[in-house]
Amino acid sequence: MDFCAERIKTIESDIRGKNYYTALDFESKGIKVLKLNTGNPATFGFGMPDSVRAALMENPDRAVGYSDPRGAATARQAILDYHLSTGIKDITLDDVFIGNGVSEIGSILSTVLFNPGDEILLPMPTYSLWSMQTELSGAKTVYYKCDEQNGWNPDIDHIKSLVTPKTKCMVVINPNNPTGVVYSEEILKEIAEIARQNNIIVLSDEIYDRLVFEGKKHIPFATVAPDVPVITMSGLSKSHCLCGFRCGWMVLSGNEKVRSEIREGIMKVVAIRLSANAIMETIIPAAIKDTEYTKAMLKEGGRLYEQRKAAWAALDKIEGLSYVKNDAAFYIFPRVKAGLDSDKKFVRELLLEKKILLVPGTGFLQQDNDHFRIILLPEANELNWAINEIGDFLKNYNSKRGV
Ligand SMILES: Cc1ncc(COP(=O)(O)O)c(C=O)c1O
Repeated sequence: MDFCAERIKTIESDIRGKNYYTALDFESKGIKVLKLNTGNPATFGFGMPDSVRAALMENPDRAVGYSDPRGAATARQAILDYHLSTGIKDITLDDVFIGNGVSEIGSILSTVLFNPGDEILLPMPTYSLWSMQTELSGAKTVYYKCDEQNGWNPDIDHIKSLVTPKTKCMVVINPNNPTGVVYSEEILKEIAEIARQNNIIVLSDEIYDRLVFEGKKHIPFATVAPDVPVITMSGLSKSHCLCGFRCGWMVLSGNEKVRSEIREGIMKVVAIRLSANAIMETIIPAAIKDTEYTKAMLKEGGRLYEQRKAAWAALDKIEGLSYVKNDAAFYIFPRVKAGLDSDKKFVRELLLEKKILLVPGTGFLQQDNDHFRIILLPEANELNWAINEIGDFLKNYNSKRGV
């Protein structure tokens, strides 16, 4: 790779990497593979919300030109109203920016904020967008433990022990991918206090904020830390199953001095790419208004509800696995009780033998090698079949290595 920049040499995606291309290769030969590598609901038959279809047809001509680099004003207004309604205070239209997915927002933010040598606190496990963007920028990744024994909540003492004068930003993913858990208000307040004491900017990835099951509540980080510089991110990929529309956004809040500096930096960077996809921006107001689409998936009888139930029931029957029940999103992050020599090897062999594609825990920077992520998007019966197959594979895998 001598022609490529140094910075991409260590970049590797376990979500869309070698195993994914092997799966495509199987499929090109007519071999069916159950691809549980990406949280992409449309590939499991989750259709476009009717509200979005109607908005899309309404006046596509207005999206033919570039839009405002910050995002179309009507769409930004809908986003602003949404976040005001969730309790974030003192934000205006100037604080809202739209991007081509939270993925592009991550790239914009790392360009604007991360200097080589800065330390960026990231959860472990983390969604790899954040580890890879940090690495690309030359900043240093510093991982804080999320404690499986404590419902995968961030370990506050561990975070405190990692803070140094070089700590610039902290990423919080709540609800979390890959664990599917929602953090309590108490935990968020403790994280906010660390950020406050140490002048840390919090990047709060809340893309699953509306995908929370009954009995749990998502608390936007910015609401517990109105004085701390926080960048809240969300979008429509998950709540409205519109991954392909590439719709994400960010909202700046907290300390006005820091906020205005970051705002200016973002204005420079978003101008480089002229604008986000304008057609996606036309449907944002209708989608945000349509809360029913999301709620219907989460309530009893709804697909996400029933699929989660089926997954838990199937997992409960596998002796060799333990798992923390997910409160949100459509992920679960089981642990192989006996441990694994290599989670990558386990996932690879599962793909080759059972034609089921998972992502190993180390793909989320979980360093103990004992985990993998399952996506709870297939219909309940298919999910039940897949988890039984994984259980069967694990049993043979363990017996072959004398466990
Ligand atoms: C935590 C998290 N953040 C961001 C993204 C990317 O979202 P988008 O489709 O908006 O780029 C994902 C996608 O799975 C995710 O899980």
